[in-house]
Amino acid sequence: MEKILIFDTTLRDGEQSPGFSMNIQEKMQVAKQLEKLNVDIMEAGFPIASEGDFQAVRAIAKNIKHSKIAALARTEDKDIDRAWEAIKEAAHPVIHTFISTSELHLKYQLYLSQEEVLEKAIHAVKRAKSYTPYVEFSAMDATRTDREYLCRVVEEAIKAGAVTINIPDTVGYAIPQEFGDLINHLMKNVSNIHRAILSVHCHNDLGLAVANALAAVQYGVRQVECTINGIGERAGNASMEEIVMSIRTRKDFFKHLYTQIVTEQIHPTSRLLTQITGISVQPNKAIVGSNAFAHESGIHQDGLLKEKITYEIMTPESIGISQSTLVLGKHSGRHAFKDRLKKLGYELSDEEVNILFKQFKDLADKKKEVFDEDLEALIAEEFLRIPEKYKLINLNAISGTGAIPTATVEMEVDGMVVKEAGFGDGPVDAAFKTIAKITGTKSKLLKFLVNAITGGTDAQGEVTVRLEENGLVATGQGAHTDIILASAKAYINALNRLAHLSHS
Ligand code: KIV
Ligand code: ZN
Repeated sequence: MEKILIFDTTLRDGEQSPGFSMNIQEKMQVAKQLEKLNVDIMEAGFPIASEGDFQAVRAIAKNIKHSKIAALARTEDKDIDRAWEAIKEAAHPVIHTFISTSELHLKYQLYLSQEEVLEKAIHAVKRAKSYTPYVEFSAMDATRTDREYLCRVVEEAIKAGAVTINIPDTVGYAIPQEFGDLINHLMKNVSNIHRAILSVHCHNDLGLAVANALAAVQYGVRQVECTINGIGERAGNASMEEIVMSIRTRKDFFKHLYTQIVTEQIHPTSRLLTQITGISVQPNKAIVGSNAFAHESGIHQDGLLKEKITYEIMTPESIGISQSTLVLGKHSGRHAFKDRLKKLGYELSDEEVNILFKQFKDLADKKKEVFDEDLEALIAEEFLRIPEKYKLINLNAISGTGAIPTATVEMEVDGMVVKEAGFGDGPVDAAFKTIAKITGTKSKLLKFLVNAITGGTDAQGEVTVRLEENGLVATGQGAHTDIILASAKAYINALNRLAHLSHS
């Protein structure tokens, strides 16, 4: 059996795309979850890009012990030095250096000749190698690069010390058959290719990223760069869950290949990313979309009831969705509760369990049935928290035909109790305006997203709010069976994050 290494770039290529930026704490949380998923390498960021990125990569490098930690660097000395500075405390530090090799990029962007680019690549790999044995080199825009030149660059990068050679389809231009052929060409024409691991990094502009990556694997590629939920520059990167589950589900086709991903952590990781960024995946998204395991048609349901394999090629449990979604009710005890949390992948201290148990009981009083998703929301609410400058004590909102939407809010601000009332276009708007008045904040609402967790009219509403103030951006979450209350909690959570950011 041969292993396909999973190089996760959610925190770099994914995080750099619009709407997905995360602060240090959020990146750290995703990194911890990626480690549970057992990714081989996680690319934590691009340290030269900003001080925030540098600090996030450094924190991840210090705290993650199992996965290798990669930092991105152009071929400039200052990039490589900065990347090393950020990852030098990692257990397994990887410097990933890159330069464009296509004629198009050389002519219109870099204004360099092929020889100059080759020299820069060699120099960068050697410099990175002086810091760490794990050096990856990427020939950016490889799929639009002259093949002969690409072979030369790859050969020289390996000679200079690169142990991984990445072939990016930077603009998502390749077609699977053609991409497989390119990999085959490199395998046959680069004399020292077997001294390095060949990797691919596919973008999804034509919706072919996963297909291209899987085609490359057929020709000897042994590392795939990918992201959770397929996030990334423009149309995104190859989605990790699709790559991993394709290899696992079609063992008959990818006969001798496997990944070390703990697939049962796929769904929790996808959910965590959604909760942190506030960007949901489309319902029909393969593997992690909310409809991915929902069977609506009568014929399909009939088949499933007779034998699951008729219409289900993989089980929901294999990606971490519990089949027994109904978990607990108000009569459930602490032991069952703790056991359920453990099954969901949360190892919590007794103190943390006690806090959650009380909240669970309150929820179970309001809701007859408490589902796994409800528990995840409670955990996110409680443990994605940061110090609370602002606390909600009471909220009353009035709305309806003929009534002016009004909210009365009682809050604690730095330990002082303050009460105010205000109007708005609707009850949520009234609540937000009143909270802003109480806290004296002037943030701009960038995003307001409501999701029903589980079905039924007693479902918990999960609200995500993204705010901006003084150039800082923060996302807050709130969950409650009362949607106005969930919104106010999310808003206050985001304000607390902004306050925390402005002091850190
Ligand atoms: O898409 C790309 O080419 C990249 C490189 C930096 C690997 O993200
Ligand atoms: Zn990319």
